[in-house]
Amino acid sequence: MKLLDGKKVSDDIKNEIAAEVLKMKENGEKVPHLAAIIVGNDGASLTYVGSKVKSCERVGFESTLIKMPSTTSETELLKKIKELNEDDNIDGFIVQLPLPKQIDTQKIILAIDPSKDVDGFHPENFGKMALDMTTFIPATPFGILELLERYNVETKGKHTVVIGRSHIVGRPMSILMGRKGFPGNSTVTLTHSHTKNINQITSQADIIITALGVPNYLKAEMIKDDAVIIDVGITRVPDESIEKGYKITGDVDFENVSKKASFITPVPGGVGPMTIAMLLKNTLLAREQKKN
Ligand code: GUN
Repeated sequence: MKLLDGKKVSDDIKNEIAAEVLKMKENGEKVPHLAAIIVGNDGASLTYVGSKVKSCERVGFESTLIKMPSTTSETELLKKIKELNEDDNIDGFIVQLPLPKQIDTQKIILAIDPSKDVDGFHPENFGKMALDMTTFIPATPFGILELLERYNVETKGKHTVVIGRSHIVGRPMSILMGRKGFPGNSTVTLTHSHTKNINQITSQADIIITALGVPNYLKAEMIKDDAVIIDVGITRVPDESIEKGYKITGDVDFENVSKKASFITPVPGGVGPMTIAMLLKNTLLAREQKKN
């Protein structure tokens, strides 16, 4: 079994980005500027957004964190998005999901200028992704592709099973793994809550990508020998023996599944850090596209 070390690879990517930023500075160019909007006080979301902003500092980007109260109306959020769309100083921005229930997420995503949509959630960017056009690929799927590529994991002709059809991970992942090129050229099955006989499907998979948010869902008996396992789950499970009071748990029963797998991502330290690195990469891309 080989560990797909997202922490290490994301550090490599951040160093590569930092070197690019240094060159920009030396040339007297403006450095990339990422803004993030967070609405409400969800602890996990605040942590993720905090990490995104901290990573900006590390690579030399400018960053702006916009915190809005949980009572924010859709109109107020749309106004903030308009401001960011029109602010030439901001190269890319994200609206952290999920949003409070009084806000229609689709309306918000549609309001983001596609050229600043570094999450790749706008339908224009999602459509371009599906059509193999250059665009912002959603950061988590992009991070998984990058991990597979850097570890040279063969995907051509393999059966990839994606578990979960979220707009952020499962759906785009299912499209990307079936695209031409590497990593891609896979035969993809997208499974979800209505899938029947899921164990039968997962046990035929060469590559399994789980994005469910159900701790320890994928068991050793559900996979075949030497499968490649990508765990996108990051659920906070209460654990009083830890100071924080919880531990981050993936969708995969790592202890048992890792004995059968050929490659596997740990949680934490697998897909999570890759998401942030690829968001930075998309922001760099947004800056570069502005120059041209
Ligand atoms: N919530 C969980 N993952 C993401 C992400 O990649 N981007 C945003 N904006 N919100 C998220």
